[in-house]
Amino acid sequence: MQTSHITLPNMGCGTWAWGNRLLWGYDESMDKQLQAVFDLCVSNGVTLFDTGDSYGTGRLNGRSEKLLGRFFREYSGSNKENICIATKLAVYPWRLTRKSMVRACQCSAKRLGKNVDLVQMHWSTANYAPWQEWALLDGLADLYEQRLVKGVGLSNYGPKRLKKVYKKFADRGVPISTLQVQYSLLSTYPVTQLGVKDVCDELGIRLIAYSPLALGLLTGKYSEKDSLPRGIRGLLFRQLLPNIQPLLSCLREVARSRHKTMSQVAINWCICKGTIPIPGAKTVEQARENIGALGWYLDSNEIAELDKAAGSVDKTMVQNIFQTK
Ligand SMILES: NC(=O)c1ccc[n+]([C@@H]2O[C@H](COP(=O)([O-])OP(=O)(O)OC[C@H]3O[C@@H](n4cnc5c(N)ncnc54)[C@H](OP(=O)(O)O)[C@@H]3O)[C@@H](O)[C@H]2O)c1
Repeated sequence: MQTSHITLPNMGCGTWAWGNRLLWGYDESMDKQLQAVFDLCVSNGVTLFDTGDSYGTGRLNGRSEKLLGRFFREYSGSNKENICIATKLAVYPWRLTRKSMVRACQCSAKRLGKNVDLVQMHWSTANYAPWQEWALLDGLADLYEQRLVKGVGLSNYGPKRLKKVYKKFADRGVPISTLQVQYSLLSTYPVTQLGVKDVCDELGIRLIAYSPLALGLLTGKYSEKDSLPRGIRGLLFRQLLPNIQPLLSCLREVARSRHKTMSQVAINWCICKGTIPIPGAKTVEQARENIGALGWYLDSNEIAELDKAAGSVDKTMVQNIFQTK
């Protein structure tokens, strides 16, 4: 089996919000700010950027990839050589052949203005059309063999399905570099119940934690009384907030005693669990704060307290419908 050519930092940056108007209220006036977020991250060694070809729909088609490409071209500071742009190819119902994945990746590369570094299958079809994904996975392996990407990853796969895909790729000598799942103090399910981290360790796969701030809930800035974000996030937060107060109090207390912020503690917890968190940042202030999660580690008592508080929450984040077992 060949080894992957990807080098990954301890933390990355998510870009789901960079292009999605309906869900996140993105508009083009944010672009300057997002460029500053990108520059700040890279100059501080946060060089992994996660995007998707479905991030930005309708008129904003592929906006997040286009922005990342532009920011990459215009960046001239330190660490440029370490930048790793990871995109996720959506498993649309009309993507049925291995060639369709190769073409999709070429379209992403066109939007980025450079080759994709890490190409990921956005989700598995195992829960609704288990036959569909095998050809598409062949397409991902083709991309690696043709050296159009440096590494291949998966997203929203559970351990059983992961092992099957691993075997398929291993037969072709293609390593799986990464798996990303929703993982945070409010979404421990993939690790504690599915056991995905142990399997990743066994197979030499790095686990990426997406939504490590539970979409912003773990920052502590949202409360039942104050204004909640509009749309689906607001509805979700309204349901969760009454139940998660003990966890937020614990997070607040650890942050206070550490002289860190709640976001930094929540992200650091993911790092201490051996994952690579990719918090999304929309502003320079958020990015700066998130970068402050690097360079130190929670101790075992703090982790145990946070684990206990997380384990006592009876309503947690809704799992991605595509997450497999
Ligand atoms: N594979 C998948 O299926 C999948 C699914 C979801 C996400 N992802 C990836 O994971 C990345 C991150 O996840 P996410 O954006 O869903 O959730 P997240 O990182 O948990 O939350 C990001 C949101 O929290 C708020 N925030 C971030 N840093 C903050 C700070 N320091 N202080 C205060 N607020 C802060 C911002 O929203 P507000 O300012 O509006 O509160 C931001 O958009 C995405 O960009 C995407 O790349 C992958």
